[in-house]
Amino acid sequence: MTKAFVVGHPIAHSRSPLIHGHWLAAHGIAGTYERIDVAPEAFAEFLKTLREKGFAGGNVTIPHKEAAFARVDELTPRAKTIGAVNTVFFDADGRLWGDNTDAPGFIAHLDQSLGADRLDRTGGTAVVLGAGGAARAIVVGLLERGLTRIQVANRTRARAEALVALDPQRVAALDWADLPTALSGAGLLVNTTSLGMAGHGVLDLDLTPLPASASVADIVYAPLETPLLATARARGLAAVDGLGMLLHQAVPGFERWFGVRPAVTPALRDRIVADLVGPRAGP
Ligand code: ATR
Repeated sequence: MTKAFVVGHPIAHSRSPLIHGHWLAAHGIAGTYERIDVAPEAFAEFLKTLREKGFAGGNVTIPHKEAAFARVDELTPRAKTIGAVNTVFFDADGRLWGDNTDAPGFIAHLDQSLGADRLDRTGGTAVVLGAGGAARAIVVGLLERGLTRIQVANRTRARAEALVALDPQRVAALDWADLPTALSGAGLLVNTTSLGMAGHGVLDLDLTPLPASASVADIVYAPLETPLLATARARGLAAVDGLGMLLHQAVPGFERWFGVRPAVTPALRDRIVADLVGPRAGP
């Protein structure tokens, strides 16, 4: 029986057990994937005892992603670049590795939603709103995907400037006031802020300057159709919701722990959407 987990604080609302439970059942694997609530002060000890508890690995979420980065034995190159770990697993020698699957998860979802070559066709310029941990993973993903110019606008400009170091040739920080000009040359707009999430503020942004060929992606998935995506669709722009990133980032972990590469299918998506709009609705 292979065991995996998701650890966070709080963790009750995590959809990861539903995702991995769906795949375990679909593949007939006798494994478990459990939710574990660990307070920050107990996280180091939690990591140390993983092996003796029989875990093959698991997912790490808020607020532990940076602590996991600092405490695993080995880091994948991508986790090193992003500075945060969302997936851990043991190698054959018992060393605990930290990976970050948010970047490839976002890109896989974008390409699956838009068609693999749309990003290539609509130009290599993206505008990213926000500069937190999620933005960092997304900028890394967009750089890996080959975009040539990524402009980051954030309420706190210093955080946007910190992302420029990822690739000063291709990443630039932007003042919020300069967004209209930046949008007029963008092939892709990505919201990584919490604005638009149920219970948070609203993202007040005029999408008029975006070219008709542009796509708009939101990482917020509760609600699934954020006001930003609704406005984009109303303008006839391609709109990409945030749920797919959550589904796709789960794929590499499942493959590591359970030995099968699972697929993000409409049935899986329907299962999670039903939960998002159900009695436990919320992010
Ligand atoms: P995550 O790791 O999920 O990205 P985070 O590090 O807390 O979370 O980042 C949240 C992002 O949403 C930040 O870019 C934040 O802007 P600041 O860096 O200025 O804090 C942005 N954000 C949150 N609330 C906001 C608001 N009311 N207006 C504008 N931006 C907001």
